[in-house]
This record gives sequence, C-alpha cells and structure tokens, in this order.
Amino acid sequence: MTTDERDYDHLRMRQWLDGAARADGISRRGMLRLLTAAGVIGAVGAGGTGTAHAGPTVPGIVKPLPDEHFIVRGTNAESRWSGLRGTGFHTPNELFFVRNHTTTPELDAESWRLRVWGSGLRGDGAEFSLCDLKSLPSTTHTAFVECAGNGRSFYATQQGQTASGTAWTLGAVGVARWRGVRLAHVLRRAGLTRHAVDVQPRGLDAEATASDGTPMGHVRRPLPVAKALDDVLLVHEMNGRPLPPDHGAPVRVLVPSWVGIASVKWVGDIEVSAEPLYSPWNTDLYRLFGPGYPEGGSAPLTRQTLKSAFELPWDAPFAAGRTHHLTGRSWSGAGTIRSVEVSTDGGRRWHHARLHDVPRRDSWVRWSLPWTPRAAGAATLLARATDSTGTRQPDTTPFNEQGYLFNGVVRHPVLVTA
Ligand code: MTE
Repeated sequence: MTTDERDYDHLRMRQWLDGAARADGISRRGMLRLLTAAGVIGAVGAGGTGTAHAGPTVPGIVKPLPDEHFIVRGTNAESRWSGLRGTGFHTPNELFFVRNHTTTPELDAESWRLRVWGSGLRGDGAEFSLCDLKSLPSTTHTAFVECAGNGRSFYATQQGQTASGTAWTLGAVGVARWRGVRLAHVLRRAGLTRHAVDVQPRGLDAEATASDGTPMGHVRRPLPVAKALDDVLLVHEMNGRPLPPDHGAPVRVLVPSWVGIASVKWVGDIEVSAEPLYSPWNTDLYRLFGPGYPEGGSAPLTRQTLKSAFELPWDAPFAAGRTHHLTGRSWSGAGTIRSVEVSTDGGRRWHHARLHDVPRRDSWVRWSLPWTPRAAGAATLLARATDSTGTRQPDTTPFNEQGYLFNGVVRHPVLVTA
C-alpha cells in the first residue's frame, strides 16, 4: 500500500481509464484533462483549469466572531494572531478559525448516525451512533488543522501574483487536542476487506456550488486506504469539550499533517471503495496549477507546508529604547520544527529564537526573542523556521493559481515610536 498521493493518483487515473475508478460529479472532460496532464494518456483538447469556490456570501457561523479576534472572510473567519498571545499552547475553541464551504449545520447528536458503506467492505457495512463511537477505545492527539490556502494573500502582497480564493493572512490555522476513535478501528468493525483502496468521508453540510454555478455535491474527498488506516481519527471532542457546531459537531474527521480539507466536518457517511474515487476536492481543487506545474495540476495535496507567525497585529507599535518580547509560533506538516530565526531589520541579520515547547509532529512550537529597538520609524520583522527534514522557509514561494501552500518568510511591518 502507498501513502504517496502522486504514485497513487497515477494508479487511480489508469484505473479510471479502465472503467475501474469512479468520478461522480466530475465531467469526463475534466478527467481527460487530468489524465493528459499527468502523462497517463496523450494530448486531448483540454480546456482551462477552472477555479471552483463554493458557498454563499453569508457567514453562517454559529459562534460569536468578535472583531478583536476574527477577520470575517465570506463564509469563513480568520483568527487574529495578535489574539493568540498568552492563550497557551492549544488554540481555545472560541478563537479557532472557521472554514466553511457553505454554512454550519446544527445537527442533533442523539439522532446522528455515521454510515460506513461501499464495495471495499464485507457485507452491507455498518452504522454507528455517537454512543457507539464513544464506547470504542478512544485516542487523544494534539494536531493543527490548517487551510491549504493559509497565507494566500502574501502571493499578492509580497510577490505581486494574485491567486484566486479567500485572501487569508496567516490565521487559517489552529492547534487543538482532539479526542476520538481511530478510523482504522471503525473501518475494521464495518468489515474492511483487502480490496479497499479509497476511503471517502462526506459532510452533512449543504451541497457546495462552484463559482461557475456547477453543483459539486456534499464536501467529500477520498483518502488512500493506507493513510486512513494510519493516523486518522473520528473526533468528537476538541480541547476537552464536545466538538462545537462550527468545527464539525457531533463528529469530524481529523487527518493529521494534511491540508485542512481532508479533515471533513459533520461527517455523515464514509464510502469505502474497492475502486478508486475522485471528487472535485482532489481534481479541480487542492492541486497546484500554474507555471511550473503539469496542465492538469500537481498530485492532490497532502501534507501541509512550513510557516511562522508573530503574535502581533500588523503595524504593532513598539516604544524605542525599551526591551520587548517578540513571540510567535512555527509549524510544519513535514516533520517537527528544528529551529526558528528572527530578523528585526528586514532580513539583514538573523537571531535564533528561544523555543518554548518540545517540538512535536503535527503541532507548532511557541518561540520568543527579546528586542530593544533603537530608532523610531517603520521596521520589518521576519521569522523563518527550519524543520526536521532540513527545509528552511524560503524568501518566496513558487506561484500556483489557487494560492495553496505558501511557505515564504512573511514580512511583518511594525512601527517603532520615540
Ligand atoms: N468539512 C465540511 N463538511 N465542509 C467544509 O466546508 N471545510 C474544510 C474542512 N472540512 C469543510 C470541511 C476546510 S477547507 C478546512 S481548512 C477545515 O475543515 C477547517 O476546519 P475548521 O473550520 O474546524 O477550522
């Protein structure tokens, strides 16, 4: 079994050509474009890549979104980094960002059922109530959920390249302590067979619509069975409290280290398929398109990238001649954080920040650095992390049209006052 989406995607595509993979809700033309671009078949008259962004403009978020903690962006709410200073390691549920393709549904936990079904199971599958799930052995894991487009706005503001999609700064990420049941356990109980190749959780929120009006159906995205059996959880608790409505109550999927779209909220059913599956969320969306990428896009996105953020508002004031403690956090989907460097002079000199947490996978580390600015005027703060794979945040990120996986060093403006 492979957890490498690139190898697996090629296999999935060849199987689709043989009539052995399903792609509900995706046009034949769209599939042919992917196949051509991936070199699985020869050139066909492929159209544009098409960008799909779903949802009404009404926020549809249940929890309060006070202005000092959130920036509302369409149907989504970005957390303000300035509001995280001093809040502890885990992002409080009240301050956690919300990314909704449509609106938060309010589901009744008592009558909620999870149906596990499909050709990759022995028999008819199984149904679980919340009580059933809670009676299975539980696991707790601290992990970030981060939107693949977090940091997207910096393609425009730092690199002069505008990407489509929500113009997040760095606040589409949060770390929580999630409690739930291993998906592997549930799949085995439902009769998983060795023929299963894809596992596709589907949300109970309203069906999404692409920007061109094309119906996309319910939010769903296939996972290779190897990842589903590895570290994926079905969670019902967030930071010791029942999962809040906006974050997927009563139960969501948590796919550690992967792009946030994999962590399907309000999960209602999981298809376990003996044939490979496609959905708009691993074909037109959540691949890299643009210069330097194949015409049909990269392989579907899996792991998140490397980022750092200061716990400061934009243009934060600092009194000259005083010592201030700059604080921030860094995280990586590829491994643990090894070191963080900070520059207070626009990138000329770098200083090692002090790390305040033992670096752990799927999580962030908090860091700090004392700074005594001398002269009044505008200054630029920078932070760059290096992770355990040896990757250091670069000055710029190669552009992709949908603005995913920005990992460049963010230039944070501040104002030193006399
Ligand atoms: N699941 C459903 N059913 N509907 C959604 O709109 N958004 C996804 C994912 N799961 C989404 C979903 C995206 S793009 C992200 S980044 C995360 O949920 C955000 O999780 P949060 O809102 O709990 O922060």
